[in-house]
Amino acid sequence: MSLTDEGHYGPKQLNLLEVVWGEGFLSPGGTDEIDEIVKNTNLEDKSILDIGCGCGGAAFHLIKKHRAKSVQGIDPEPLVIKTAQQLAKKNNLADKATFKCVEPGPLQYNQETFDVIFSKEVFLHIPDKEALLKDVHRVLKPGGLIIVSDWMRIDDNPPSKQMQDYIAAEGLDMLMCSLKKYKELLELTNFNNIEIRDRNEWYLQKAKKELKEIEGQLYQKVVDVLGIEETIGAIEIWKKLIGVLEIGEHRPGHFKAKKI
Ligand SMILES: C[S@@+](CC[C@H](N)C(=O)[O-])C[C@H]1O[C@@H](n2cnc3c(N)ncnc32)[C@H](O)[C@@H]1O
Repeated sequence: MSLTDEGHYGPKQLNLLEVVWGEGFLSPGGTDEIDEIVKNTNLEDKSILDIGCGCGGAAFHLIKKHRAKSVQGIDPEPLVIKTAQQLAKKNNLADKATFKCVEPGPLQYNQETFDVIFSKEVFLHIPDKEALLKDVHRVLKPGGLIIVSDWMRIDDNPPSKQMQDYIAAEGLDMLMCSLKKYKELLELTNFNNIEIRDRNEWYLQKAKKELKEIEGQLYQKVVDVLGIEETIGAIEIWKKLIGVLEIGEHRPGHFKAKKI
C-alpha cells in the first residue's frame, strides 16, 4: 500500500502534497518550518547543497528570505527534479537554484565544495547514516554546517507493531533512527557544536490539523487529485501517522553541527 496507486513521487502524489503542504514542498511545515530548522544561522552568501531537495520549496526560501548565494538541489526522482526546475523559472530563481537528478549513493562532488549541507525529511530513506555523514563531512568546507530535519524514532530498537503497520501503510523505505543516534554519529564523524531538537509535539499538533483540513476544507481538492477511494486510503494513513506520533515513537527532529 502507498499514498497513491502510482507509488511515490508520481504526479498524483506531488499534486496531493502540494494541496496539503504547499507549492514546492514534499514535507510538512512550509516556509515557517524551514525558518525553524535554520534558526540562528546566518546563511547570507553561503553555497548550499540540499540533499533530497524534492520540488525546491526549501531552496527558494533559503535564497529569497535567508539570502543564500546558491542552492544546488539533488534528488533521485526525475519528475520531482523537473517540477523543481519549472518552479525555479516561475520564481525567477533559476540562476541561483539549480536542480540535478542523481543516483542514490555517494555525493558526486569534490571535497570542500559547499558552505552548508541542508536536508529535510530525506535521511530516513538512506540506510547507512554513518557513511552519509562521512560523505557530507568530506564535501563541506572547513567550518561548514550540516543542517537537517528528519523523521526519527524514539530509540533504535526494532519498531513496534503499530509503527510497522504505519510504515507498511506509507509503502516507503523508512529507515528511521533516533536523535540520540544522530548525535553519536555526528561525534564519530568529526562534527562539533552539535545541536539537536525534538519536534514530536509540533508535528503531532500539525498532523492533527492537516487531517482536519483533509477531511474538511481541502477534501474536495484532495478528491479531485486522488479520487474517492484513494482519498479514504490517505485519510487512514494520516490517522496511523497521528497514532505513532501520539505514542511518541515517531519523533521528527532537527540537528545542526559544524565541520571541525
Ligand atoms: C519526504 S521527501 C522531502 C523532499 C524535500 N526535502 C522537501 O522537504 O520538500 C523525500 C525526498 O527524498 C528523496 N530521496 C529518496 N531517497 C534519496 C536518496 N538516497 N538521496 C537523496 N534523496 C533521496 C525523494 O525522492 C524525495 O524527493
